[in-house]
Amino acid sequence: MIIDNVNIVLIGFRGTGKTTIGRILARRLGKGFVDADEYLEQKEKRTIRDIFQEDGEGVFREIETKVIQEICSFDDKVIATGGGAVLREENVRNLKKRGVLIFLNTDINIIYKRIYGDKRSSQKRPNLTHLSNYQEIKYLLECRRPLYDKIADFVIDTAGTSLNTVVRKIIALIHGHVRDLRKE
Ligand code: S3P
Repeated sequence: MIIDNVNIVLIGFRGTGKTTIGRILARRLGKGFVDADEYLEQKEKRTIRDIFQEDGEGVFREIETKVIQEICSFDDKVIATGGGAVLREENVRNLKKRGVLIFLNTDINIIYKRIYGDKRSSQKRPNLTHLSNYQEIKYLLECRRPLYDKIADFVIDTAGTSLNTVVRKIIALIHGHVRDLRKE
């Protein structure tokens, strides 16, 4: 595995900056950038919100699995995944084949503000439970954090850290990781 053809896969909850950080990271590393949700919407020719509304979450997850499988056959990309993509083992297996998984971890209040402080952001994201907005984030974070932690090659805490610093940290980690893999 050399850095040139490795995929860098960003995982984590909604509103943790996967897309924003992914774009900057891709530019710095000279890799292509793929946002799994955008890719899915382009392929389906409808928004995630519409898919949820018209067909429900189950159908969305099926489509998401096919999209992840397709994206994972690419080389040399930075990939931002949807927050629930790693709930399926099959997706994790595929993402790990050519990818280093980086979990962007942040604070619940930051997530809440990012999602619900911006109308465009909240409108894009369908509710996943019948809980209130804050309680939904709290509940899902409790369920998902252990999984994100377990499958990640690296965890980066982004709370109180600038985008540039996060990107620099990721680059340093990947270089170290690839060096270690070369030694094996
Ligand atoms: C989801 C997160 C979303 C999107 C879909 C479901 C989730 O992606 O895939 O609304 O289950 O957490 P982002 O993490 O990019 O918001």
